[in-house]
Amino acid sequence: MALRDILRYPDPRLRKTAQPVLRVDDAVRGLIRDMAETMYGARGIGLAATQIDVAQRVVVIDISPEHKALRTFVNPVIVRSEGTYEVEEGCLSVPGIYEEVERAQKIEVHALDADGRPFELVAEDLLAVCIQHEIDHLDGKVFVDYLSRLKQQRIRKKLEKHQRLAM
Ligand code: NI
Repeated sequence: MALRDILRYPDPRLRKTAQPVLRVDDAVRGLIRDMAETMYGARGIGLAATQIDVAQRVVVIDISPEHKALRTFVNPVIVRSEGTYEVEEGCLSVPGIYEEVERAQKIEVHALDADGRPFELVAEDLLAVCIQHEIDHLDGKVFVDYLSRLKQQRIRKKLEKHQRLAM
């Protein structure tokens, strides 16, 4: 297993559209393990492969306080969504920024697990938000995109300044 570097907004590689996984093989399972380790290491609750510069449709999520309920979504597709829900979202690619974004409150998602088996999940509230946030990453979108242009400019400036100061 290995920790991977997480891309930081506004890195243009976060804009790539990820491709579907054709077969969940050992290489994909290795990627999933690295992603989980990277997510836990960074104290995140979700990570998309896009964020470590891998253009494949793979997401890991663990919203449990004990970090013992890892969920893997390969080729996730939201087939149904309803209601609206907002929480302050953060992102490992946008460190230190938390903003509310309007999302669906309840979704049904279809995906493959780490063994390549299809499953269906109905998720609500935080888990639903997290899945929507991570699938956005696979489509080259970042939660910042939903904010006003002014807020986006402020966030970009702040993060670019931090990068200049990083030694
Ligand atoms: Ni994110």
